[in-house]
Amino acid sequence: MGINIFWYKENKKKLDKSASNLTELNNDVQLCKKCALSSSRTNTVFGTGDNNAEIMIIGEAPGKDEDLKGEPFVGRAGKLLNEFLDSINLYRDNIFITNTVKCRPPENRNPETQEIKACAHYLDMQIKIINPKVIILLGKIAANRMLNEDKSIADLRGKKFFLQNHSIPVIVFYHPAYILRSPLQKYQVWQDLKFLKEILSSYVN
Ligand code: URA
Ligand code: SF4
Repeated sequence: MGINIFWYKENKKKLDKSASNLTELNNDVQLCKKCALSSSRTNTVFGTGDNNAEIMIIGEAPGKDEDLKGEPFVGRAGKLLNEFLDSINLYRDNIFITNTVKCRPPENRNPETQEIKACAHYLDMQIKIINPKVIILLGKIAANRMLNEDKSIADLRGKKFFLQNHSIPVIVFYHPAYILRSPLQKYQVWQDLKFLKEILSSYVN
């Protein structure tokens, strides 16, 4: 019993600390003007989910729906992402979802390398605070820019990578927006999800 109470107190302290660190970081993001995307945004999109998630998903950039709502993946691509997660009994409440940049690029253009670099500090801090067991990069743009590669998604999927300064395994999935445009590729997502499950099960001893 004593051990359980100790465990609870220590973990509660950790949870409270992560929550307050993320709140502070979110306040910084809301005021940020480090790149030009600050001038066209409606809302910053910090990220949502579990502050102590085992899985962190990093998309590309907020789109129109996300910019209006201030939350990631709330449009059509987000709904498809939810479906994929549901299919392996994962729910957004247990995952932390964010993007490579926290402000919407005008006309949904790809975020530029300079913008991703300007925003990297926030993402780095989110990874450090949340300390997930696995990070998923969604799509070629996020993957190539985050991993400093210039490869096709076919070359990047099904492998483990590491981000600079982090020892957490990173894997690459098709972006759900790509699957919306190319529904015949949907079967490949099951392979991505299977790979994720394998990595997660390797933590269970
Ligand atoms: N696409 C992304 O990459 N991120 C979002 O938040 C929404 C759509
Ligand atoms: Fe700041 Fe990132 Fe928004 Fe650029 S995209 S203004 S770096 S929060």
